[in-house]
Amino acid sequence: RSKMALPPRPILFEFRGVSMTKYFTENWDNIQNFKARPDDILIATYPKAGNTWVSYILDLLYFSHMLPKRKDSVPLHERVPFLEMYIPGFPSGVNELNQLTTSPRIIKTHLPVHFLPKSFWDQNSKIIYVARNAKDTAVSYFHFDRMNRAQPEPGDWSSYLQRFMEGKMVFGSWHDHVKGWWEKKQTRSNILYLFYEDLIEDTEKELNRLCSFLDLAPTTELKNQVREKVLFDNMRKDKMANGSADEVFDFKISPFMRKGKVGDWKNHFTVQQDEQFNEHYDREMRDSDLQFRTVL
Ligand code: A3P
Repeated sequence: RSKMALPPRPILFEFRGVSMTKYFTENWDNIQNFKARPDDILIATYPKAGNTWVSYILDLLYFSHMLPKRKDSVPLHERVPFLEMYIPGFPSGVNELNQLTTSPRIIKTHLPVHFLPKSFWDQNSKIIYVARNAKDTAVSYFHFDRMNRAQPEPGDWSSYLQRFMEGKMVFGSWHDHVKGWWEKKQTRSNILYLFYEDLIEDTEKELNRLCSFLDLAPTTELKNQVREKVLFDNMRKDKMANGSADEVFDFKISPFMRKGKVGDWKNHFTVQQDEQFNEHYDREMRDSDLQFRTVL
């Protein structure tokens, strides 16, 4: 499992109407037949919306009593398995989940809502969806694709942004993803829909919303501990949570914990790109009442 042994980057292809790679489709039947449990907690996001951040918050809320052992030796991506991941040489997400000995299971997914295994709906497992504004998501995804050798080559920023708008990204269109989960949320009480921007603006408030959704009543001490541990600068230094334990990442190119800001898109978008993006965005989003903040 050395870095040199990794195969070439995967290519993007259309899978049941959504752009995907083989790393998230080759285990399809096992993913679709996954047996969820009523006490499973699923963290669903389009890539780069803060899945790791919320994963760590939940892991600390549920398993702080197992620290420090767990914190010092088990990387977050093993504590919170990635449901659809299927990369040769690595344990599949489904197998990791079936072998987890801790409960509840905290599960990561990037699947669009209509791809989610049926069992999650049958079991009424709790689902936390996190959405992040499209512009910051695009920038974050670009840098992520540069450093993640399990993702297709991103190419240059301007062509990348164009493909982001067209939904030619792994896990498909950002617009379809955030809208699909938003619509589902209107009909299901087991979904909590959060925004990355709100988490940045007032972490404590969102932490309280998470706890009440999960029927958790942590002590003030534990809540303060969690808030401290998940501060961007602390998580960035935390080897079990900052992605440095993930073998497909090349930190020489870009860190996983990159900036953690709202509005970094302004350092990447040209005026012309911004105008084009806004025009396209309004068309894609006009059938939805979803509102995002691109600055705070
Ligand atoms: P940036 O690339 O903009 O810095 P995901 O975990 O879904 O892949 O999302 C990754 C994004 O969330 C990255 O955004 C990362 O820096 C940011 N992030 C992760 N932990 C964070 C934290 N504790 N506070 C703020 N942002 C965080």
